[in-house]
Amino acid sequence: MDLKGSFPINSFKTLQTPFYYYDLEILRSSLDLLRKEADRNRIEVHYAVKANANPRILAAIQAYGFGADCVSGGEMQAALQAGFPSSRVVFAGVGKADWEIDLGLKADIFCFNVESAAELEVIDQRAAGMGKKARVALRINPNVQADTHHYITTGLSENKFGIPLQCLDEVLDLCMSLDHLELIGLHFHIGSQITEMDNFAGLCARVNEIQNHLDQRQLSVQHINLGGGLGIDYHHPDKVPVPDFSTYMHTIRKMLVMRPGQSLHIEPGRSVVAQCGSLISKVLYIKKGLQKEFVVLDAGMTELIRPALYQAYHKIENISSEEPEQKYDVVGPICESSDTFGKQVVLNKTRRGDLVAIRSTGAYAEIMASNYNLRPKAPARFSDDLLN
Ligand code: LLP
Repeated sequence: MDLKGSFPINSFKTLQTPFYYYDLEILRSSLDLLRKEADRNRIEVHYAVKANANPRILAAIQAYGFGADCVSGGEMQAALQAGFPSSRVVFAGVGKADWEIDLGLKADIFCFNVESAAELEVIDQRAAGMGKKARVALRINPNVQADTHHYITTGLSENKFGIPLQCLDEVLDLCMSLDHLELIGLHFHIGSQITEMDNFAGLCARVNEIQNHLDQRQLSVQHINLGGGLGIDYHHPDKVPVPDFSTYMHTIRKMLVMRPGQSLHIEPGRSVVAQCGSLISKVLYIKKGLQKEFVVLDAGMTELIRPALYQAYHKIENISSEEPEQKYDVVGPICESSDTFGKQVVLNKTRRGDLVAIRSTGAYAEIMASNYNLRPKAPARFSDDLLN
């Protein structure tokens, strides 16, 4: 078994569980590297707010001068409130409501990433009503394979996201005909938790073809946005706490053929925040089954839905025990069979009252929390505030 993560366990013992623990040192290490590699590769980063919108996390990311990728009015408000400049905010999503479009127009955001002809018409109308011109990028579905869970791929043609390649000309014609729109970019996103660089290389090859097509039509755009998707190592959160932004950025820079003056943008979410977070929970009961033992935690799918929703793996550690290892099914208290964090998980011998860390929960955990079973929202705790 790998080393366990290092936690301020004495402070943890005084806190009510469950809670989301954020190690801000790990976050800052990720952000340092992201900033360095983004500058070196001349890439503009819009952090995907959907991964984690905790105000302290947003403030830390904003302090590095990155932009924000938002998918709702609420996310735009959170990003602006955290201090992200509106000139670096992009707004995506297949179902933008009128009020959300108006919010983006009023804030004069950098760009709307547009997913359909119908949406282009509505944005044009809303912009006309305000006497403005909206900057838009067309989100194209590149029909590129991403080797990840089928619930989180977005770039294949049967997906609801983006404009199918076959419709691109038609949508370009429409876009050029609308007076209150300015086409400034092309936007792509092929999925999430992608660890194969070949998938990103495949996307870049497709972008090159599309740009050639635009050349033939004598059209050009100011920027290319490749979306997010860089995966993390859920199995080794301590060995690989900071993702390999360098290889990722080198790959896309090397593969893409850019036009003069064009800028390159990305929207990482998970890779920025996942490894700084752990869900800390207390063992309520050890329940003996017929063939196995269950560890029943006070955290459940309401605090971390990824295992139930995507059969996602998260490393689980008993951070209170050094006793010999044994196998357990680790479950939550919610009235659903899918409220299971892991089956036959190897843990040090576990007793009621022990603290358990579910690792790599900085992304898509707190933000996807629900109050199902009328459970209160678990609080967030930060390493900077805790002493060991
Ligand atoms: N840009 C767009 C257009 C996106 O749809 C997404 C994620 C991102 C950027 C950020 O992708 P990331 O770098 O985080 O992979 N709840 C799921 C993940 C859903 C991702 C949705 N879109 C999970 O827990 O795995």
